[in-house]
Amino acid sequence: MVKTHQPTMNNNIKRQELLIRREESQLGGGQTRIDKQHSQGKLTARERIELLLDEGSFQEIGMFITHRSTYFGLDEQHYPGDGVVTGYGTIHGRMVYVFSQDFTVLGGSLSETHAEKICKIMDLAVKNGAPVIGLNDSGGARIQEGVVSLAGYADIFYRNTRASGVIPQISVIMGPCAGGAVYSPALTDFVFMVEDTSYMFVTGPNVVKTVTHEEVTSEDLGGAKTHAEKSGVTHFTSANDVTTLRQVRDFMTYLPQNYGEYAPTTSFEFSKNKLNHIQNILPDNASFPYDIREVIECVIDDESFREVHADFATNIVVGMARLEGRTIGVIANQPQSMAGVLDIDSSRKGARFVRFCDSFNIPLLVFEDVPGFLPGTDQEWRGIISHGAKLLYAFSEATVPRVTVITRKAYGGAYDVMNSKNIGADMNFAWPTAEIAVMGAKGAAEIIFKREISGASDPQAKWLEKEAEYAEMFANPYRAAERGFVDEVILPEETRAKLIQAFKMLENKAEHLPQKKHGNIPL
Ligand code: HXC
Repeated sequence: MVKTHQPTMNNNIKRQELLIRREESQLGGGQTRIDKQHSQGKLTARERIELLLDEGSFQEIGMFITHRSTYFGLDEQHYPGDGVVTGYGTIHGRMVYVFSQDFTVLGGSLSETHAEKICKIMDLAVKNGAPVIGLNDSGGARIQEGVVSLAGYADIFYRNTRASGVIPQISVIMGPCAGGAVYSPALTDFVFMVEDTSYMFVTGPNVVKTVTHEEVTSEDLGGAKTHAEKSGVTHFTSANDVTTLRQVRDFMTYLPQNYGEYAPTTSFEFSKNKLNHIQNILPDNASFPYDIREVIECVIDDESFREVHADFATNIVVGMARLEGRTIGVIANQPQSMAGVLDIDSSRKGARFVRFCDSFNIPLLVFEDVPGFLPGTDQEWRGIISHGAKLLYAFSEATVPRVTVITRKAYGGAYDVMNSKNIGADMNFAWPTAEIAVMGAKGAAEIIFKREISGASDPQAKWLEKEAEYAEMFANPYRAAERGFVDEVILPEETRAKLIQAFKMLENKAEHLPQKKHGNIPL
Protein backbone atom coordinates (compact mmCIF):
# COMPACT_ATOMS: atom_id res chain seq x y z
CA MET A 1 0.00 0.00 0.00
CA VAL A 2 1.29 3.47 -0.89
CA LYS A 3 1.39 5.93 2.00
CA THR A 4 0.20 9.45 1.10
CA HIS A 5 1.54 12.40 3.04
CA GLN A 6 -0.33 15.66 3.39
CA PRO A 7 2.09 18.57 2.87
CA THR A 8 3.27 19.99 6.17
CA MET A 9 3.01 23.67 6.97
CA ASN A 10 6.64 24.11 5.97
CA ASN A 11 6.21 22.25 2.70
CA ASN A 12 3.13 24.25 1.95
CA ILE A 13 5.11 27.46 2.15
CA LYS A 14 7.74 26.01 -0.19
CA ARG A 15 5.09 24.86 -2.66
CA GLN A 16 3.55 28.30 -2.49
CA GLU A 17 6.88 29.96 -3.19
CA LEU A 18 7.33 27.89 -6.35
CA LEU A 19 3.85 28.74 -7.57
CA ILE A 20 4.41 32.44 -6.94
CA ARG A 21 7.79 32.36 -8.68
CA ARG A 22 6.22 30.59 -11.66
CA GLU A 23 3.49 33.17 -11.81
CA GLU A 24 5.98 36.03 -11.68
CA SER A 25 8.02 34.58 -14.48
CA GLN A 26 4.92 34.46 -16.70
CA LEU A 27 4.64 38.23 -16.43
CA GLY A 28 7.98 39.02 -18.10
CA GLY A 29 8.59 42.76 -17.83
CA GLY A 30 5.18 43.43 -16.26
CA GLN A 31 1.63 44.14 -17.30
CA THR A 32 2.31 47.71 -18.51
CA ARG A 33 4.91 46.52 -20.97
CA ILE A 34 2.71 43.59 -22.03
CA ASP A 35 -0.08 46.07 -22.74
CA LYS A 36 2.32 48.18 -24.81
CA GLN A 37 3.36 45.09 -26.78
CA HIS A 38 -0.30 44.28 -27.46
CA SER A 39 -1.09 47.87 -28.43
CA GLN A 40 1.55 47.57 -31.15
CA GLY A 41 -0.22 44.55 -32.59
CA LYS A 42 2.40 42.18 -31.20
CA LEU A 43 1.89 39.12 -29.03
CA THR A 44 4.10 38.32 -26.04
CA ALA A 45 6.89 35.76 -26.17
CA ARG A 46 4.76 33.17 -24.38
CA GLU A 47 1.61 33.80 -26.41
CA ARG A 48 3.66 33.24 -29.55
CA ILE A 49 4.99 29.93 -28.29
CA GLU A 50 1.45 28.81 -27.44
CA LEU A 51 0.38 29.49 -31.03
CA LEU A 52 3.44 27.92 -32.59
CA LEU A 53 3.33 24.63 -30.72
CA ASP A 54 0.66 21.97 -30.28
CA GLU A 55 -1.67 22.91 -27.48
CA GLY A 56 -0.22 22.18 -24.05
CA SER A 57 2.98 20.66 -25.43
CA PHE A 58 5.43 23.39 -24.39
CA GLN A 59 7.93 22.52 -21.67
CA GLU A 60 9.94 25.45 -20.44
CA ILE A 61 13.62 25.26 -19.53
CA GLY A 62 15.39 27.93 -17.46
CA MET A 63 12.36 29.81 -16.26
CA PHE A 64 14.20 31.27 -13.25
CA ILE A 65 17.48 32.20 -14.89
CA THR A 66 18.54 35.80 -14.23
CA HIS A 67 21.48 37.85 -15.45
CA ARG A 68 24.70 38.30 -13.47
CA SER A 69 25.41 41.90 -14.40
CA THR A 70 25.72 44.77 -11.96
CA TYR A 71 26.58 47.70 -14.23
CA PHE A 72 24.34 50.69 -14.93
CA GLY A 73 21.64 49.73 -12.48
CA LEU A 74 21.19 46.20 -13.76
CA ASP A 75 21.74 44.89 -10.23
CA GLU A 76 18.30 46.27 -9.45
CA GLN A 77 16.55 44.89 -12.52
CA HIS A 78 16.16 41.14 -12.36
CA TYR A 79 13.47 39.42 -14.37
CA PRO A 80 13.11 35.62 -14.15
CA GLY A 81 13.98 34.14 -17.53
CA ASP A 82 16.07 37.16 -18.51
CA GLY A 83 14.15 38.19 -21.60
CA VAL A 84 13.93 34.91 -23.47
CA VAL A 85 11.56 31.98 -23.05
CA THR A 86 13.20 28.69 -24.03
CA GLY A 87 12.12 25.08 -24.16
CA TYR A 88 10.68 22.36 -26.34
CA GLY A 89 7.35 21.08 -27.56
CA THR A 90 5.72 19.62 -30.62
CA ILE A 91 4.35 20.81 -33.96
CA HIS A 92 1.87 18.32 -35.43
CA GLY A 93 3.25 15.81 -32.95
CA ARG A 94 6.92 16.22 -33.89
CA MET A 95 9.55 17.59 -31.49
CA VAL A 96 10.98 21.08 -31.97
CA TYR A 97 13.15 23.29 -29.76
CA VAL A 98 12.14 26.92 -29.38
CA PHE A 99 13.38 30.21 -28.05
CA SER A 100 11.19 33.28 -27.96
CA GLN A 101 12.64 36.67 -27.07
CA ASP A 102 10.57 38.73 -24.65
CA PHE A 103 10.61 42.39 -25.65
CA THR A 104 8.91 43.33 -22.38
CA VAL A 105 12.12 42.51 -20.49
CA LEU A 106 14.77 45.13 -21.21
CA GLY A 107 13.66 45.23 -24.84
CA GLY A 108 14.40 41.54 -25.32
CA SER A 109 18.06 42.55 -25.31
CA LEU A 110 20.62 39.78 -25.35
CA SER A 111 22.65 39.37 -22.17
CA GLU A 112 25.25 36.75 -21.38
CA THR A 113 22.66 34.55 -19.67
CA HIS A 114 20.00 35.16 -22.35
CA ALA A 115 22.55 33.86 -24.87
CA GLU A 116 23.39 30.88 -22.67
CA LYS A 117 19.71 29.91 -22.61
CA ILE A 118 19.50 30.01 -26.41
CA CYS A 119 22.73 28.02 -26.73
CA LYS A 120 21.42 25.34 -24.36
CA ILE A 121 18.34 24.90 -26.53
CA MET A 122 20.41 24.74 -29.69
CA ASP A 123 22.74 22.14 -28.20
CA LEU A 124 19.77 20.01 -27.15
CA ALA A 125 18.25 20.34 -30.62
CA VAL A 126 21.43 19.14 -32.31
CA LYS A 127 22.00 16.27 -29.84
CA ASN A 128 18.44 15.08 -30.26
CA GLY A 129 18.13 15.70 -33.99
CA ALA A 130 15.16 18.06 -34.02
CA PRO A 131 14.61 21.49 -35.60
CA VAL A 132 15.19 24.72 -33.71
CA ILE A 133 12.87 27.69 -34.16
CA GLY A 134 13.84 31.16 -32.94
CA LEU A 135 11.22 33.86 -32.43
CA ASN A 136 13.19 37.12 -32.58
CA ASP A 137 12.03 40.35 -30.96
CA SER A 138 14.99 42.18 -29.47
CA GLY A 139 16.78 45.50 -29.17
CA GLY A 140 20.06 43.65 -29.75
CA ALA A 141 23.07 43.36 -27.49
CA ARG A 142 22.25 44.35 -23.89
CA ILE A 143 24.05 47.65 -23.93
CA GLN A 144 24.80 47.68 -20.18
CA GLU A 145 26.67 44.36 -20.40
CA GLY A 146 29.23 45.25 -23.03
CA VAL A 147 31.48 42.60 -24.47
CA VAL A 148 29.91 39.59 -22.69
CA SER A 149 26.78 40.24 -24.70
CA LEU A 150 28.76 40.33 -27.94
CA ALA A 151 30.42 37.08 -26.93
CA GLY A 152 26.94 35.63 -26.35
CA TYR A 153 25.98 36.47 -29.92
CA ALA A 154 29.17 34.88 -31.19
CA ASP A 155 28.32 31.71 -29.22
CA ILE A 156 24.98 31.59 -31.05
CA PHE A 157 26.46 32.30 -34.50
CA TYR A 158 29.00 29.54 -33.95
CA ARG A 159 26.25 27.09 -33.08
CA ASN A 160 24.09 28.20 -36.03
CA THR A 161 26.98 27.41 -38.34
CA ARG A 162 27.84 24.08 -36.74
CA ALA A 163 24.16 23.04 -36.79
CA SER A 164 23.75 24.03 -40.45
CA GLY A 165 22.86 20.94 -42.47
CA VAL A 166 22.36 18.88 -39.29
CA ILE A 167 18.92 20.11 -38.22
CA PRO A 168 16.56 22.59 -39.89
CA GLN A 169 16.91 26.05 -38.32
CA ILE A 170 14.06 28.52 -38.65
CA SER A 171 14.09 32.22 -37.72
CA VAL A 172 10.92 34.21 -37.23
CA ILE A 173 11.40 37.98 -37.02
CA MET A 174 8.59 39.46 -34.94
CA GLY A 175 10.00 42.83 -33.87
CA PRO A 176 13.35 44.60 -34.08
CA CYS A 177 16.40 42.63 -35.19
CA ALA A 178 19.31 44.99 -35.69
CA GLY A 179 23.07 45.21 -35.64
CA GLY A 180 25.07 42.02 -35.53
CA ALA A 181 21.94 40.28 -34.23
CA VAL A 182 20.80 39.85 -37.83
CA TYR A 183 23.52 37.32 -38.45
CA SER A 184 21.92 34.53 -36.48
CA PRO A 185 18.79 34.55 -38.69
CA ALA A 186 21.00 34.97 -41.75
CA LEU A 187 22.83 31.75 -40.84
CA THR A 188 19.61 29.77 -40.48
CA ASP A 189 17.72 27.99 -43.26
CA PHE A 190 14.49 29.96 -43.52
CA VAL A 191 13.52 33.44 -42.33
CA PHE A 192 9.90 34.46 -41.74
CA MET A 193 9.02 38.13 -41.16
CA VAL A 194 5.86 39.76 -39.81
CA GLU A 195 4.67 42.64 -41.99
CA ASP A 196 4.73 46.16 -40.48
CA THR A 197 5.97 45.13 -37.01
CA SER A 198 9.36 43.58 -37.77
CA TYR A 199 12.55 44.86 -39.32
CA MET A 200 16.12 43.76 -39.85
CA PHE A 201 19.18 45.85 -40.63
CA VAL A 202 22.87 45.93 -39.82
CA THR A 203 22.83 49.69 -39.26
CA GLY A 204 19.62 51.61 -38.59
CA PRO A 205 18.21 54.77 -40.20
CA ASN A 206 20.14 57.14 -37.89
CA VAL A 207 23.54 55.69 -38.72
CA VAL A 208 22.60 55.51 -42.39
CA LYS A 209 21.75 59.21 -42.31
CA THR A 210 25.06 60.12 -40.65
CA VAL A 211 27.19 58.05 -42.98
CA THR A 212 25.48 58.26 -46.36
CA HIS A 213 23.09 61.21 -45.79
CA GLU A 214 20.20 59.04 -46.96
CA GLU A 215 16.85 59.54 -45.23
CA VAL A 216 15.07 56.22 -44.87
CA THR A 217 12.48 54.76 -42.52
CA SER A 218 13.03 51.51 -40.62
CA GLU A 219 10.32 49.94 -42.75
CA ASP A 220 11.90 50.95 -46.06
CA LEU A 221 15.37 50.07 -44.89
CA GLY A 222 14.62 46.65 -43.45
CA GLY A 223 10.91 45.88 -43.24
CA ALA A 224 9.35 42.62 -44.39
CA LYS A 225 8.50 43.90 -47.88
CA THR A 226 12.03 45.21 -48.44
CA HIS A 227 13.60 41.89 -47.50
CA ALA A 228 11.03 39.87 -49.42
CA GLU A 229 11.42 41.80 -52.68
CA LYS A 230 14.77 43.59 -52.69
CA SER A 231 17.34 41.75 -50.60
CA GLY A 232 15.93 38.25 -50.47
CA VAL A 233 16.90 38.06 -46.77
CA THR A 234 13.44 36.81 -45.82
CA HIS A 235 11.84 33.78 -47.44
CA PHE A 236 8.30 34.38 -46.20
CA THR A 237 6.21 37.29 -44.95
CA SER A 238 2.79 37.31 -43.37
CA ALA A 239 0.28 39.87 -42.10
CA ASN A 240 0.61 39.44 -38.32
CA ASP A 241 1.96 37.26 -35.53
CA VAL A 242 -0.89 34.76 -35.73
CA THR A 243 -0.74 34.18 -39.50
CA THR A 244 3.07 34.02 -39.43
CA LEU A 245 3.14 31.35 -36.73
CA ARG A 246 0.50 29.34 -38.60
CA GLN A 247 2.67 29.61 -41.69
CA VAL A 248 5.66 28.25 -39.77
CA ARG A 249 3.61 25.32 -38.40
CA ASP A 250 2.47 24.45 -41.90
CA PHE A 251 5.95 24.74 -43.43
CA MET A 252 7.47 22.43 -40.80
CA THR A 253 5.32 19.57 -42.14
CA TYR A 254 7.46 19.60 -45.30
CA LEU A 255 10.75 19.12 -43.47
CA PRO A 256 12.48 16.16 -41.89
CA GLN A 257 13.67 16.36 -38.29
CA ASN A 258 17.34 16.18 -39.23
CA TYR A 259 19.76 15.25 -42.03
CA GLY A 260 19.44 11.53 -41.31
CA GLU A 261 15.66 11.39 -41.76
CA TYR A 262 13.07 11.90 -44.47
CA ALA A 263 10.20 14.37 -44.38
CA PRO A 264 6.95 12.77 -43.21
CA THR A 265 4.52 11.40 -45.80
CA THR A 266 1.00 12.80 -45.74
CA SER A 267 -2.34 11.92 -47.26
CA PHE A 268 -3.04 13.67 -50.57
CA GLU A 269 -5.60 14.47 -53.22
CA PHE A 270 -5.17 15.02 -56.93
CA SER A 271 -7.84 16.56 -59.15
CA LYS A 272 -7.87 14.68 -62.44
CA ASN A 273 -9.10 17.72 -64.38
CA LYS A 274 -5.60 19.15 -64.02
CA LEU A 275 -4.48 16.56 -66.61
CA ASN A 276 -6.62 18.36 -69.21
CA HIS A 277 -5.53 21.80 -68.15
CA ILE A 278 -1.81 21.05 -68.37
CA GLN A 279 -2.14 20.40 -72.13
CA ASN A 280 -3.18 24.00 -72.76
CA ILE A 281 -0.79 26.02 -70.65
CA LEU A 282 2.00 26.57 -73.18
CA PRO A 283 1.20 29.25 -75.80
CA ASP A 284 1.58 28.26 -79.48
CA ASN A 285 4.10 31.01 -79.98
CA ALA A 286 7.31 29.95 -78.19
CA SER A 287 8.18 33.59 -77.47
CA PHE A 288 5.03 34.16 -75.44
CA PRO A 289 5.09 33.96 -71.64
CA TYR A 290 3.13 31.63 -69.36
CA ASP A 291 3.08 31.04 -65.61
CA ILE A 292 5.22 28.03 -64.71
CA ARG A 293 3.33 27.81 -61.41
CA GLU A 294 0.33 26.58 -63.40
CA VAL A 295 2.46 23.70 -64.67
CA ILE A 296 3.71 22.96 -61.16
CA GLU A 297 0.15 23.00 -59.76
CA CYS A 298 -1.04 20.58 -62.46
CA VAL A 299 1.63 18.02 -61.58
CA ILE A 300 1.80 18.03 -57.78
CA ASP A 301 -0.72 17.01 -55.12
CA ASP A 302 -3.59 19.47 -54.77
CA GLU A 303 -2.75 22.62 -52.82
CA SER A 304 0.63 21.30 -51.77
CA PHE A 305 2.88 24.01 -53.22
CA ARG A 306 4.59 26.28 -50.68
CA GLU A 307 6.50 28.85 -52.63
CA VAL A 308 9.70 30.07 -50.99
CA HIS A 309 11.05 33.57 -51.78
CA ALA A 310 7.89 34.25 -53.79
CA ASP A 311 8.62 37.96 -54.30
CA PHE A 312 12.37 37.85 -54.81
CA ALA A 313 14.06 37.05 -58.15
CA THR A 314 10.71 36.09 -59.63
CA ASN A 315 12.37 34.77 -62.81
CA ILE A 316 12.95 31.54 -60.90
CA VAL A 317 10.30 29.81 -58.79
CA VAL A 318 11.33 27.59 -55.87
CA GLY A 319 9.29 25.89 -53.22
CA MET A 320 8.25 22.75 -51.41
CA ALA A 321 5.53 20.53 -52.84
CA ARG A 322 4.27 16.97 -52.51
CA LEU A 323 4.01 14.10 -54.96
CA GLU A 324 1.76 11.33 -53.64
CA GLY A 325 2.23 12.78 -50.15
CA ARG A 326 6.02 12.97 -50.26
CA THR A 327 7.96 16.22 -50.00
CA ILE A 328 9.89 17.35 -53.08
CA GLY A 329 11.74 20.60 -53.73
CA VAL A 330 10.72 22.34 -56.96
CA ILE A 331 13.00 24.68 -58.90
CA ALA A 332 11.52 26.18 -62.08
CA ASN A 333 12.38 28.92 -64.55
CA GLN A 334 9.51 31.40 -64.77
CA PRO A 335 8.82 32.47 -68.40
CA GLN A 336 6.46 35.21 -67.28
CA SER A 337 9.21 37.07 -65.42
CA MET A 338 12.11 38.31 -67.57
CA ALA A 339 11.39 35.38 -69.92
CA GLY A 340 12.76 33.03 -67.24
CA VAL A 341 16.34 34.15 -67.85
CA LEU A 342 18.95 33.30 -65.19
CA ASP A 343 20.60 36.27 -63.50
CA ILE A 344 22.56 36.90 -60.31
CA ASP A 345 19.63 36.90 -57.89
CA SER A 346 17.83 33.92 -59.41
CA SER A 347 21.05 31.90 -59.40
CA ARG A 348 21.61 32.69 -55.70
CA LYS A 349 18.00 31.94 -54.86
CA GLY A 350 18.02 28.64 -56.73
CA ALA A 351 21.38 27.54 -55.36
CA ARG A 352 20.43 28.18 -51.73
CA PHE A 353 17.22 26.21 -52.11
CA VAL A 354 18.90 23.29 -53.87
CA ARG A 355 21.49 23.07 -51.08
CA PHE A 356 18.82 23.08 -48.37
CA CYS A 357 16.93 20.26 -50.06
CA ASP A 358 20.08 18.25 -50.62
CA SER A 359 21.12 18.69 -46.98
CA PHE A 360 17.81 17.28 -45.78
CA ASN A 361 17.07 14.43 -48.21
CA ILE A 362 14.41 16.28 -50.18
CA PRO A 363 14.35 15.11 -53.83
CA LEU A 364 14.63 17.81 -56.49
CA LEU A 365 12.23 18.40 -59.37
CA VAL A 366 13.28 20.95 -62.01
CA PHE A 367 11.03 22.54 -64.63
CA GLU A 368 13.18 24.08 -67.32
CA ASP A 369 12.29 26.85 -69.73
CA VAL A 370 15.33 29.08 -69.88
CA PRO A 371 16.55 31.28 -72.73
CA GLY A 372 20.03 31.66 -71.16
CA PHE A 373 21.83 34.01 -68.79
CA LEU A 374 20.93 37.71 -68.66
CA PRO A 375 23.34 39.75 -70.83
CA GLY A 376 24.65 43.22 -69.89
CA THR A 377 27.34 45.16 -68.10
CA ASP A 378 25.36 45.31 -64.85
CA GLN A 379 25.28 41.52 -64.56
CA GLU A 380 28.83 40.97 -65.79
CA TRP A 381 30.34 43.63 -63.53
CA ARG A 382 28.46 42.38 -60.50
CA GLY A 383 29.74 38.89 -61.11
CA ILE A 384 27.16 36.78 -62.90
CA ILE A 385 30.04 34.42 -63.64
CA SER A 386 30.59 33.60 -59.95
CA HIS A 387 26.92 33.80 -58.97
CA GLY A 388 25.73 31.66 -61.88
CA ALA A 389 28.38 29.14 -60.88
CA LYS A 390 26.66 28.80 -57.50
CA LEU A 391 23.62 27.21 -59.07
CA LEU A 392 25.78 24.98 -61.24
CA TYR A 393 27.78 23.93 -58.18
CA ALA A 394 24.68 23.35 -56.05
CA PHE A 395 23.07 21.03 -58.59
CA SER A 396 26.35 19.26 -59.38
CA GLU A 397 27.05 18.38 -55.75
CA ALA A 398 23.45 17.36 -54.90
CA THR A 399 23.14 13.64 -54.24
CA VAL A 400 19.37 13.45 -53.65
CA PRO A 401 17.14 12.08 -56.44
CA ARG A 402 17.06 14.69 -59.22
CA VAL A 403 14.59 14.86 -62.09
CA THR A 404 14.22 17.52 -64.81
CA VAL A 405 11.30 18.29 -67.11
CA ILE A 406 12.15 20.54 -70.07
CA THR A 407 8.92 22.23 -71.07
CA ARG A 408 10.28 24.58 -73.71
CA LYS A 409 13.61 26.40 -74.01
CA ALA A 410 16.84 24.87 -72.78
CA TYR A 411 19.48 27.11 -74.26
CA GLY A 412 23.19 27.53 -73.89
CA GLY A 413 25.04 27.34 -70.58
CA ALA A 414 21.74 27.65 -68.76
CA TYR A 415 20.77 24.23 -70.23
CA ASP A 416 23.80 22.71 -68.51
CA VAL A 417 23.12 24.53 -65.25
CA MET A 418 19.44 23.62 -64.90
CA ASN A 419 20.01 20.07 -63.66
CA SER A 420 21.16 18.60 -66.97
CA LYS A 421 21.97 14.94 -67.28
CA ASN A 422 25.69 15.66 -67.52
CA ILE A 423 25.81 17.37 -64.10
CA GLY A 424 24.26 14.36 -62.46
CA ALA A 425 20.49 14.56 -62.94
CA ASP A 426 18.97 11.09 -62.66
CA MET A 427 16.06 11.37 -65.09
CA ASN A 428 15.43 14.02 -67.70
CA PHE A 429 12.11 14.32 -69.43
CA ALA A 430 11.18 16.72 -72.25
CA TRP A 431 7.85 17.76 -73.62
CA PRO A 432 7.40 17.74 -77.42
CA THR A 433 7.61 21.55 -77.25
CA ALA A 434 11.18 21.44 -75.89
CA GLU A 435 13.91 23.30 -77.76
CA ILE A 436 17.39 22.20 -76.72
CA ALA A 437 20.12 24.16 -78.45
CA VAL A 438 23.19 26.33 -77.98
CA MET A 439 21.05 29.37 -78.66
CA GLY A 440 17.82 30.55 -80.32
CA ALA A 441 17.51 29.78 -84.06
CA LYS A 442 17.51 33.44 -85.10
CA GLY A 443 20.78 34.30 -83.37
CA ALA A 444 22.37 31.01 -84.35
CA ALA A 445 21.57 31.53 -88.06
CA GLU A 446 22.98 35.04 -87.95
CA ILE A 447 26.32 33.77 -86.68
CA ILE A 448 26.92 30.54 -88.54
CA PHE A 449 25.40 31.65 -91.88
CA LYS A 450 26.74 35.21 -91.73
CA ARG A 451 28.53 35.08 -95.08
CA GLU A 452 25.67 33.34 -96.91
CA ILE A 453 23.17 35.85 -95.54
CA SER A 454 25.22 38.97 -96.38
CA GLY A 455 26.07 37.62 -99.87
CA ALA A 456 22.45 36.74 -100.73
CA SER A 457 20.41 38.88 -103.11
CA ASP A 458 17.72 39.08 -100.39
CA PRO A 459 19.60 38.84 -97.02
CA GLN A 460 16.40 39.00 -94.96
CA ALA A 461 14.81 36.08 -96.82
CA LYS A 462 18.06 34.12 -96.54
CA TRP A 463 18.20 34.76 -92.82
CA LEU A 464 14.66 33.48 -92.37
CA GLU A 465 15.46 30.41 -94.46
CA LYS A 466 18.56 29.65 -92.39
CA GLU A 467 16.72 30.32 -89.13
CA ALA A 468 14.08 27.77 -90.16
CA GLU A 469 16.81 25.29 -91.07
CA TYR A 470 18.45 25.64 -87.63
CA ALA A 471 15.11 25.48 -85.86
CA GLU A 472 14.20 22.32 -87.77
CA MET A 473 17.42 20.75 -86.56
CA PHE A 474 17.45 21.84 -82.91
CA ALA A 475 14.15 23.45 -81.83
CA ASN A 476 12.88 20.07 -80.64
CA PRO A 477 13.79 17.49 -78.00
CA TYR A 478 14.81 14.74 -80.42
CA ARG A 479 18.52 15.52 -80.99
CA ALA A 480 18.96 15.44 -77.20
CA ALA A 481 16.84 12.28 -76.89
CA GLU A 482 18.92 10.58 -79.61
CA ARG A 483 22.03 11.20 -77.50
CA GLY A 484 20.39 10.15 -74.23
CA PHE A 485 20.61 13.63 -72.70
CA VAL A 486 16.84 13.37 -72.48
CA ASP A 487 15.60 10.00 -71.20
CA GLU A 488 12.08 10.24 -72.52
CA VAL A 489 9.93 12.66 -74.48
CA ILE A 490 6.54 12.78 -72.77
CA LEU A 491 3.19 14.46 -73.19
CA PRO A 492 2.39 17.15 -70.63
CA GLU A 493 -0.53 15.14 -69.23
CA GLU A 494 1.81 12.17 -68.64
CA THR A 495 4.16 14.25 -66.49
CA ARG A 496 2.72 13.52 -63.03
CA ALA A 497 2.61 9.78 -63.56
CA LYS A 498 6.12 9.73 -65.03
CA LEU A 499 7.49 11.76 -62.11
CA ILE A 500 5.86 9.51 -59.54
CA GLN A 501 7.42 6.48 -61.18
CA ALA A 502 10.81 8.16 -61.55
CA PHE A 503 10.98 9.23 -57.89
CA LYS A 504 9.86 5.73 -56.82
CA MET A 505 12.62 4.25 -58.94
CA LEU A 506 15.12 6.63 -57.26
CA GLU A 507 13.87 6.03 -53.73
CA ASN A 508 16.95 4.11 -52.64
CA LYS A 509 19.46 6.25 -54.44
CA ALA A 510 22.75 6.27 -52.54
CA GLU A 511 25.43 8.49 -53.93
CA HIS A 512 28.41 9.89 -52.06
CA LEU A 513 30.68 12.80 -52.82
CA PRO A 514 34.42 12.14 -53.04
CA GLN A 515 36.07 12.27 -49.63
CA LYS A 516 37.08 15.82 -48.75
CA LYS A 517 37.02 18.33 -45.92
CA HIS A 518 34.40 20.40 -47.69
CA GLY A 519 33.94 21.80 -51.17
CA ASN A 520 34.60 25.39 -52.10
CA ILE A 521 31.34 26.70 -53.57
CA PRO A 522 31.97 30.02 -55.40
CA LEU A 523 30.47 32.22 -52.70
C1 HXC B 1 19.34 47.26 -23.10
C2 HXC B 1 17.44 47.91 -24.15
C3 HXC B 1 18.03 47.68 -25.41
C4 HXC B 1 19.35 47.19 -25.44
C5 HXC B 1 16.04 48.37 -25.72
N1 HXC B 1 16.22 48.36 -24.39
N2 HXC B 1 17.13 47.97 -26.36
N3 HXC B 1 18.09 47.69 -23.01
N4 HXC B 1 19.97 46.98 -24.26
N5 HXC B 1 19.98 46.90 -26.58
C6 HXC B 1 15.24 48.70 -23.40
C7 HXC B 1 14.91 50.17 -23.34
O1 HXC B 1 15.82 50.85 -22.54
C8 HXC B 1 13.52 50.16 -22.75
O2 HXC B 1 13.62 49.99 -21.37
C9 HXC B 1 12.93 48.90 -23.31
O3 HXC B 1 14.03 48.08 -23.71
C10 HXC B 1 12.03 49.12 -24.50
O4 HXC B 1 12.74 49.94 -25.43
P1 HXC B 1 12.11 51.25 -26.08
O5 HXC B 1 13.24 52.01 -26.65
O6 HXC B 1 11.22 51.93 -25.11
O7 HXC B 1 11.21 50.60 -27.22
P2 HXC B 1 10.88 51.14 -28.65
O8 HXC B 1 10.55 52.60 -28.57
O9 HXC B 1 9.87 50.20 -29.21
O10 HXC B 1 12.26 51.04 -29.47
C11 HXC B 1 12.81 49.76 -29.70
C12 HXC B 1 14.25 49.91 -30.25
C13 HXC B 1 15.07 50.81 -29.29
C14 HXC B 1 14.18 50.58 -31.62
C15 HXC B 1 14.80 48.52 -30.42
O11 HXC B 1 14.90 50.30 -27.98
C16 HXC B 1 16.52 50.80 -29.61
O12 HXC B 1 16.97 51.52 -30.53
N6 HXC B 1 17.32 50.03 -28.86
C17 HXC B 1 18.74 49.97 -28.99
C18 HXC B 1 19.07 49.20 -30.20
C19 HXC B 1 20.54 49.05 -30.34
O13 HXC B 1 21.25 49.97 -30.70
N7 HXC B 1 21.02 47.82 -29.94
C20 HXC B 1 22.41 47.51 -29.98
C21 HXC B 1 22.63 47.10 -31.41
S1 HXC B 1 24.25 46.54 -31.67
P3 HXC B 1 12.53 50.57 -20.37
O14 HXC B 1 13.04 50.20 -19.02
O15 HXC B 1 12.47 52.04 -20.59
O16 HXC B 1 11.24 49.87 -20.71
C22 HXC B 1 24.11 44.97 -31.44
C23 HXC B 1 25.38 44.30 -31.63
C24 HXC B 1 25.21 42.85 -31.78
O17 HXC B 1 23.14 44.40 -31.18
C25 HXC B 1 26.56 42.34 -32.18
C26 HXC B 1 26.54 40.92 -32.46
C27 HXC B 1 27.83 40.54 -33.11
